[in-house]
Amino acid sequence: MEVDEVMQEAAREAEQAQNSRELYEVKMRYLGRTGKVTALLKSMREISADKRPAFGKTVNALREKLETLFSAHEERAKERELARRLAEERIDVTMPGRRAQKGALHPVTRVKNELIDIFAGMGFEVFEGPEIETEYYNFTALNTPADHPARDMQDTFYISDGILLRTQTSAGQIRLMEKKKPPIKMLSPGRVFRSDDDATHSPMFHQMEGLVVDKGITLCDLQGMLDEFARTMFSSTSKTRLRPSYFPFTEPSVEVDVSCAACGGKGCPLCKGTGWIEVLGAGMVNRRVLENCGVDPEEYAGFAFGMGIERIAMLKYGIGHIRLFTENDVRFLEQFKD
Ligand code: DAH
Repeated sequence: MEVDEVMQEAAREAEQAQNSRELYEVKMRYLGRTGKVTALLKSMREISADKRPAFGKTVNALREKLETLFSAHEERAKERELARRLAEERIDVTMPGRRAQKGALHPVTRVKNELIDIFAGMGFEVFEGPEIETEYYNFTALNTPADHPARDMQDTFYISDGILLRTQTSAGQIRLMEKKKPPIKMLSPGRVFRSDDDATHSPMFHQMEGLVVDKGITLCDLQGMLDEFARTMFSSTSKTRLRPSYFPFTEPSVEVDVSCAACGGKGCPLCKGTGWIEVLGAGMVNRRVLENCGVDPEEYAGFAFGMGIERIAMLKYGIGHIRLFTENDVRFLEQFKD
């Protein structure tokens, strides 16, 4: 009878199905609403009443067998598919991972932070002034009036009449002294700008300004603090030396040298054979500057210093050209990772 043929055909088709989706399609061809078995059941109506029960039983038995057949195939197909997925999506946990690139602080930021640490340890507070300044704060109040030859020491970028890009963080000295009465221990880092460009000068660079104002301050206090700075920044055996110099806002003014860390002071190409390297300018705050800020020079005295942060970084890390700081070359920058 047809029933056996249907069973065999279904078994063959189920065997040939490649995956669960194809298997489902085969199943629907037999057991679906328009499937072959459903059609057989519907044809019962046309069968004579006496044969109907036997026919019905046979067809129902066929349906049950087919259901069993399909679920067995379905189960196997699912197992195969799972096995394939597991094989395809296998992860080798022993493979080395991809490392995320870690950033690093810019050498100027590193040196700036280190300077802040050193001087904060001696009780200095950080104060930041504006990069766009008036002539008054950048020059006049620092004892450098318009006709003063010292103005030519720094080539200035003017924005408009009386407004400029600060050429020195020294401007912050005035701003702070106007706000705060002594005792003062100020550290002022920041960007400064000058029309200047060569291996050791860049039109934009960073300075660190220091200012101490109190009763009875002397040049010895300055040198003591600078010795401490040199020992921490460069080498535990570093020494400092003061040489007379000139700045309009200090009297006396000094140029500060640090013993060359590369040769220990014996003389080498870095220090040009002298054993000393010039690192900053400093001096006792000129009484005119104190007066300009309403501080009585009979009662108070102070010292100030200013250094180029790039210059300190160049000395500390042996960097040959100031442009490296602004080129953003990762090969340079990544050498300063911790
Ligand atoms: N402002 C000076 C410059 O840019 C550096 C300097 C010298 C700062 C002496 C000071 C100082 O505070 O006392 O060249």
